[in-house]
Amino acid sequence: MRPFVLINMAMSADGKISNKLKKQIKLSGKEDFERVDRLKNSVDAIMVGIGTIISDNPSLTIKSDELKRERRDEGLMENPIRIVIDGRCRIPLNSDVLKKGEGERIIATSMSADDEKIKILSRYADVIKAGIDKVDLVELMKILYNRGIRRIMVEGGGELAWGLINANLVDELYYFISPTIIGGRDSPTPVDGDGFVSEFPKLRLIEFDEIDGGLLIHWKVL
Ligand SMILES: NC(=O)c1ccc[n+]([C@@H]2O[C@H](COP(=O)([O-])OP(=O)(O)OC[C@H]3O[C@@H](n4cnc5c(N)ncnc54)[C@H](OP(=O)(O)O)[C@@H]3O)[C@@H](O)[C@H]2O)c1
Repeated sequence: MRPFVLINMAMSADGKISNKLKKQIKLSGKEDFERVDRLKNSVDAIMVGIGTIISDNPSLTIKSDELKRERRDEGLMENPIRIVIDGRCRIPLNSDVLKKGEGERIIATSMSADDEKIKILSRYADVIKAGIDKVDLVELMKILYNRGIRRIMVEGGGELAWGLINANLVDELYYFISPTIIGGRDSPTPVDGDGFVSEFPKLRLIEFDEIDGGLLIHWKVL
């Protein structure tokens, strides 16, 4: 058994999630921002790859005071569990995800991570080892399920999305397509990695909606 996994990402009209410098680009407007906050509120855990932490330094927290209040009233932590996929424990200790907001954190790492760094990180987060050099995502999902995590929102980046899709661990995709063009052969896309050569995963359209002058597309992975 594994948790239900959805990926949410924003991309330009030409399918890029950042520029060639891999710096965070504001692709969504207010309406999409609020939608993403509500989606975060609907999951047990929010997951990102270490590349995203190093590039963007996201806190992965819920932003709306109202949602935070509702969560507290329901006896929940202010934020869902935050999970970073970090095979070599490269996460900087001053990362916002470790410093900002209330709630549990998990660093998923591999056997190749330095024991001393794991020891230090254990002060900030629960450290789970799965895999030899990269994080074994299949094994990790089983561990997370056994810890009671049933629904995960993945917020990028393209390498982690590839790892998850290639391992057949993704159920749904939410892509916000922003009315802008980034371009660049080296700009990251929603799914990077090696890419499929054949037997491409198939999707079924669940719904689409015009927001912030762009398009939100919700897909089911078949
Ligand atoms: N527009 C958006 O919605 C959005 C959202 C998020 C990110 N971004 C952009 O995406 C870029 C960062 O993405 P990224 O692709 O470079 O990095 P990423 O997907 O965030 O992280 C990838 C890293 O995770 C680690 N990892 C460990 N096990 C893995 C596994 N089994 N499969 C895949 N990765 C594994 C690897 O580092 P180790 O080898 O060190 O373990 C790998 O390099 C930035 O430019 C950021 O701005 C955009």
